[in-house]
Amino acid sequence: AAKAEGASSAVLPVAANSQASSTLTILFGSQTGNAKGVAKALAEQAQAQGLTVDCKNMGEFKPKSIKNVSHLLIVASTNGEGEPPDDAIAFHEFLSSKKAPKLDHLHYSVLALGDTSYEFFCQTGKDFDEYLTKLGAKQIAPRVDCDVDYEDAANAWSSDIISKAKDMLGDATAVSNVVAMPTVGAASQYSKQNPYAAELSVSQKITGRDSNKDVRHIEIDLGDSGITYQAGDALGVWFENDVELVAELISELGFAANDQVELSGDTLTLKEVLTSKLEITQTSVNFVSFWAEQSKNAELLALVADKNAAREYAANHQVVDVVKAAPAKVSVQAFIEALRKITPRLYSIASSQAEVEDEVHLTVGLVEYQANGHTRSGGASGFLGKRLEEGGEVKVFIEHNDNFRLPADGNTPVIMIGPGTGIAPFRAFLQEREATDAQGDNWLFFGDQTFTQDFLYQVEWQAYLKSGLLTKIDLAFSRDQAEKIYVQDRLRESAEQVFAWLEKGAHLYICGDMSRMAKDVEAALVDIISEQGNKTAEQAQQYLKDLRDAKRYQKDVY
Ligand code: 2AM
Repeated sequence: AAKAEGASSAVLPVAANSQASSTLTILFGSQTGNAKGVAKALAEQAQAQGLTVDCKNMGEFKPKSIKNVSHLLIVASTNGEGEPPDDAIAFHEFLSSKKAPKLDHLHYSVLALGDTSYEFFCQTGKDFDEYLTKLGAKQIAPRVDCDVDYEDAANAWSSDIISKAKDMLGDATAVSNVVAMPTVGAASQYSKQNPYAAELSVSQKITGRDSNKDVRHIEIDLGDSGITYQAGDALGVWFENDVELVAELISELGFAANDQVELSGDTLTLKEVLTSKLEITQTSVNFVSFWAEQSKNAELLALVADKNAAREYAANHQVVDVVKAAPAKVSVQAFIEALRKITPRLYSIASSQAEVEDEVHLTVGLVEYQANGHTRSGGASGFLGKRLEEGGEVKVFIEHNDNFRLPADGNTPVIMIGPGTGIAPFRAFLQEREATDAQGDNWLFFGDQTFTQDFLYQVEWQAYLKSGLLTKIDLAFSRDQAEKIYVQDRLRESAEQVFAWLEKGAHLYICGDMSRMAKDVEAALVDIISEQGNKTAEQAQQYLKDLRDAKRYQKDVY
């Protein structure tokens, strides 16, 4: 049957008698795992309601088999620059291409995950919605766009969709089946919603005294949690806000710490919710708009009328500094309802379990700036790097990232580009390659401001060079000379070898700043491939695209 073909890449076969027309297909496109989590929960809920469900990663779905799908739910996140997650690229491209079939028979809905602090908020979800409509598909329910605190909106959409899908598809309990998502390693009982209370065992500043940056090497003890992770995964970190910042905010608003508020059905004190339930170190366009309306402040009102200006302002102010910018009288309940729920931060893991066993290491850059006479710190980085003492407790979980993995074959060479804290996953990669005695060549590009102050993990790289694990290291210290030198300049200097490595099958990885570094590095790569391979810019771009499709070019950028 057509259905069987469409599901051929799934882990479990779909029952042969299940007709496409009675199946609810759920496709997720996830970069960090949030969309996958929502899709999985939705699949379980739908199945519990008696629906026949086929839930899979878009990367495992043959785009052409869309013509055999009758009811489709898409849960898609968006990368910062508005692009789809890696696993969603092929399907996204297909639907906007000439190859896409008419989809008059298709009923669908889209849940878009995003972050209002980016210009292209929920762009991937918006694209899917637009493409499907253009192809003639009908909405089961309107698209819902979620901000970083997506849980409530996602739950509401899921419940609505399931009741509508039930009306359309009826009860098909007899043939009900869920296609299991492939998970790697033993599943741990710990998750985002049920994190493990780990111990911070080491917190060490690894930038020099005269550095412009404060970067911490953090070691967390996973104890007997049984938590496992792979090189390339991220650690989710829950944090508490600074008590002094909470007190400053409460006093500025004229509230009291023990004022009672309602949050998600619970009655809590204002101090409790501001400390551990709501974001105050990051603000949102929504909050700035709310405050502008409440304060009727002309400057804030003008600012929120301009979307880009509002986003920029929100990205550079903490809640207390927005409040200090303009006085307003609001009720305590209205105030907390304008804030977002706290969300854990994800850090690329800087260790391999093959080397450190029940520890997990991070490389954390502290975010700090001055405002209104106070030093403002980032929520999680301030908690981990400054407020939490060694021996203190931090709630963590693993966020698997199958889009950032070492080659399965240890003989395959790798090129790793990770300036600044982007070095973290490559420390994990190298530990892993050493522990598994992988024979492939390893080439590391690292850059930072100065050699003496910012050469993160210098001693480790030197030891790896000596032992031969590191085949090559190229360094770009941008501020050690009059002219800036960046990692992409080092790549260009070694153009011939970079291309030769790619031609002999090397995998290529970039980690770190997305908006500038990763873009510039990619432009350098296109130039290198075009020049060394005698290709047009277009062909060089295609070459990189083919590498990406073959999972040989992977990015972990933020
Ligand atoms: P700079 O701050 O001196 O300009 C890690 O932060 C390193 O990345 C620093 O040396 C920083 O240099 C550098 N960097 C800044 N912008 C970059 C870009 N567009 N491409 C590559 N590296 C960049």
